[in-house]
Amino acid sequence: LSPQRLQAGAAGPLYLKLRQALEEAINSGRLNHGDALPPERDLADYANISRVTVRKAVDDLVRDGLLVRRHGSGTFVVKPVARVQQSLSRLTSFTEDMARRGLKTHARWLDRGLFHPSPDEMMILGLPADALVARLGRLRVADDMPLAIERACVSADFLPDPQQVESSLYAVLEERGCRPVRAVQRISAYNMKDPDAAMLGVPAGSAGLSIERVSYLPSGRVVEFTRSIYRGDAYDFVAELTLSE
Ligand code: GLP
Repeated sequence: LSPQRLQAGAAGPLYLKLRQALEEAINSGRLNHGDALPPERDLADYANISRVTVRKAVDDLVRDGLLVRRHGSGTFVVKPVARVQQSLSRLTSFTEDMARRGLKTHARWLDRGLFHPSPDEMMILGLPADALVARLGRLRVADDMPLAIERACVSADFLPDPQQVESSLYAVLEERGCRPVRAVQRISAYNMKDPDAAMLGVPAGSAGLSIERVSYLPSGRVVEFTRSIYRGDAYDFVAELTLSE
């Protein structure tokens, strides 16, 4: 971003050259996802150009989704992520899906304990009001990239000690002999709001996918009811379709 480079080179509006220089810095990795951009005033002083020009270049990059302005804290780099191609026809866990791609998972716990079920949970899990359910709320991260917020609810009959789940819920259910074998999943479009959007590192209003999964044991009993929000910019859901007879 040297002043000489900006002033030199092909003719054309200065703000476009600054935009290009910033874009190059993002694409080459000199500026990374989540990095803060120096204040516009400092950029203008350093490059010896007007603040109006800097603002125009930044506005352009914000409009195209490469930068995001966060009220009160500054402007940050948004790097496009490699999208996860997620099959819709296999009943797998997040940990397994990421391990298959060679990514390491990590969870930030939002909630983990035993509670009485909400009316929704009672209906879906088929439980009375005085039953107990384990709730597991997690920000799910793969290789440092936050991908989803998942809130799972499992009857305490299957998971009496939610602290037992350190990384994979399905691994613990498997150990306990109650891994689900069938699930129904509903996916709908959703505009993310804060604080969820902020946790996922995207601007409020970004496209997300709200995913609900109800999964079953071979006996037909519901074992899990999970509500999740997945980043719309990070996932493609893929299903194989066949012609039915
Ligand atoms: C997926 C599903 C959730 C399920 C989770 C289990 O992400 N959408 O419904 O609870 O996998 O993942 P893990 O075993 O890694 O905790």
